[in-house]
Amino acid sequence: MTTNQIMENYKRFVVHTYNRFPVVMVKGQGCLVWDLEGKKYLDLVAGVAVNSLGHAHPCVVEAISKQAPELIHTSNLYYTIPQLELAKRLSQISFGGKAFFANSGAEANEAAIKLARRFGKTTGGRHEIITMNNSFHGRTMATLTATGQKKIQKDFDPLVPGFKYVEFNNISAVKEAINKNTCAILVEPIQGEGGVNIPANDYLQGLRTLCDEHNLLLMLDEVQTGIARTGRMFAYQHYGIIPDVMTLAKGLGGGLPIGAMLVSAKKADLLPSGSHASTFGATPLVCSAAIAVVDYIIEHNICALVEQMGEYFVAKLQGLSQKYPTAISGIRGKGLMIGMALKINGATVVNECLTNGLLINSTAGDVLRFVPPLIITREEIDESVEILDRVLLLCQS
Ligand SMILES: Cc1ncc(COP(=O)(O)O)c(C=O)c1O
Repeated sequence: MTTNQIMENYKRFVVHTYNRFPVVMVKGQGCLVWDLEGKKYLDLVAGVAVNSLGHAHPCVVEAISKQAPELIHTSNLYYTIPQLELAKRLSQISFGGKAFFANSGAEANEAAIKLARRFGKTTGGRHEIITMNNSFHGRTMATLTATGQKKIQKDFDPLVPGFKYVEFNNISAVKEAINKNTCAILVEPIQGEGGVNIPANDYLQGLRTLCDEHNLLLMLDEVQTGIARTGRMFAYQHYGIIPDVMTLAKGLGGGLPIGAMLVSAKKADLLPSGSHASTFGATPLVCSAAIAVVDYIIEHNICALVEQMGEYFVAKLQGLSQKYPTAISGIRGKGLMIGMALKINGATVVNECLTNGLLINSTAGDVLRFVPPLIITREEIDESVEILDRVLLLCQS
């Protein structure tokens, strides 16, 4: 089938929930992907922060190739060694808690929301969760309600009761929103879909203090920021705090679908047997990939690399910002989670980049988002910036 035929068949057979670019991806290697026509692209989207070690990383390929002939799936009615090994690693590299496994970020957050509800019930009948404007927590009914964006919630009402929204990076707003019904705060340490918004250095500390004062759960959505994306294994580690709950997905499986909710050991019993489940949660196959990803990141000190490459990338983008002041209004980022705020249309730049062999993505309307594989090289950054330079020259008004 040709690209056009595939696109036509999609119209017939696949629900049109995504506005896709007119390319059919068939192969990936490291930071590169190829489409059906054989065209090569530098991939700075990385499955939206999912392909943490790039495409077809040998350690992921080897792990799943070894695991597949042994045991791909068995029910969570039984124990498996890969699931235990993954839970143990995640506990050891974070805050010593326990894991509940699911298949996506939304499901990990759904587990956190359920846990918060039970926490509230057992501590005075509270139920309300505070989340932030412009946040993103997923597309299930509870997580789209948690998401502080009207456009995500539109037409799906009635929404799930018990959520309250406040301005991101504003401690006073949270203080004012807390009442006798509040049981938890759910927040991304850095907002991803909301436009790569980085809070003040003392913001998470402020939230931690409020949670301690009011006996609330501090629940961090690290679905996008987790697994070395920001130059630490988890973004909270930049800020000198420990959450009660943290959710992960995206980069954890190196491309395989996995979500995890980690909860402090003291609070883990809030979800007793029978209270939550997932048929596919943490199959041996996906766990083998996630173990390979986590081990590789630790053994190869990828966090340090991410910090170096992030600084290098931001410096190069700042160069572009000086060159195109009518097109770019600012650069912000931590590690390899970088946003470039534009004064021109983001979609036009993204489309031109695609034509020129560079995959990037725009979010919150006018913010270009760069979340490349964590193993991106200096040369690949240079090449990406050269393409972006050509595109901005064309698109600047
Ligand atoms: C911070 C955050 N939370 C949750 C989600 C939802 O994850 P998923 O699409 O795997 O359900 C996303 C996805 O972009 C995200 O960025």
